[in-house]
Amino acid sequence: EKGGYDHFMLKEIYEQPSVIRDTYRGRLLANEGIIKLGGLEEYIPKFINADRIIIVACGTSWHAGLVAEYIFEDWARIPVEVEYASEFRYRNPIITEKDVVIAISQSGETADTLAAIKLAKEKGAFVYGICNVVGSTISRETHSGTYTHAGPEIGVASTKAFTTQITVLTMIALKLAQIKGTISKSNYMMHLRELEQIPNHVEEALKSNDKIKEIAEVFKDASNFLYLGRGYNFPVALEGALKLKEISYIHAEGYPAAEMKHGPIALIDENMPVVVIAINSNHYDKVVSNIQEIKSRKGVIIAVVTKGDTVVREMADYIMEVPNTPETLTPLVTTIPLQLLSYHIAVMLNRNVDQPRNLAKSVTVE
Ligand code: M6R
Repeated sequence: EKGGYDHFMLKEIYEQPSVIRDTYRGRLLANEGIIKLGGLEEYIPKFINADRIIIVACGTSWHAGLVAEYIFEDWARIPVEVEYASEFRYRNPIITEKDVVIAISQSGETADTLAAIKLAKEKGAFVYGICNVVGSTISRETHSGTYTHAGPEIGVASTKAFTTQITVLTMIALKLAQIKGTISKSNYMMHLRELEQIPNHVEEALKSNDKIKEIAEVFKDASNFLYLGRGYNFPVALEGALKLKEISYIHAEGYPAAEMKHGPIALIDENMPVVVIAINSNHYDKVVSNIQEIKSRKGVIIAVVTKGDTVVREMADYIMEVPNTPETLTPLVTTIPLQLLSYHIAVMLNRNVDQPRNLAKSVTVE
């Protein structure tokens, strides 16, 4: 049932072009300029009139929530807060009927996320679920929601659930922005078309697999990794680090690149591989100077760059290329090489990739 792949995780990484397509199929009509999400339609006024959106989730789903924070605020101009469900539920949060809570969960069974939903409902908030498992507890406990169509995710390390969650969140943000008029018609249309191209771009990004395997070979014995990104790709850095630690047991930390000089830069030496997401974006020049800071301290750079990049290519020790796409959509492609990098390192270290020690696929106890 692994479809010829050595592990479920690898199969699920390679399924991403098709499941991202499944997730927007029938919901995104790029030529007509239409986004139609069944669970959303009748609740659009709730979103538009909300004082704020609070996103609750755990782990990788929380990272998808962070990406959504940037997208929602940028396009739909609705204030967004992203909370670990476990913190939210125990800190006597301020929630009112004017809040919309979005709960993100692959399994739909995560205990802390479920408890956060119950609390939000008690306080009168409208709760929207983004789940993968159809009929799961969270999908039933939320007022409405949208399913990701990722299909069963067996590997404990979440991969295709993450990219399909971002796909759904991007569609919701685009829809709200269009109705609110906070996005221009041309920008809206352009992003619809570009979203439709994402499966092709992911396909392209997957072609770097052999090269990424070579990079994994070089770094498999490192004992620490740092992952840096800015803007939309800051959460991708967190996700890259989580993926590496959970399946390879190598310590890794993700940081917003600019925070490096507030502490982590002290860790940089010739033994510290630093994975930097340095794709075409508004932050490109800033990321380039972060790379310079690392290089001048003998750090080793593995950079995720946009195809055709020349500047970072010169500076970095190793590069992993991804196709060009509008900045807002970049997390959907930059995630791919980071998944592959952690996968190959874990395999080389003989780890139990699909079922890492101490971890369960769904965390149904707090
Ligand atoms: O099923 P959920 O999305 O609610 O699960 C949340 C986390 O437990 C999950 O994302 C976990 O962090 C993954 N193992 C990460 O790969």
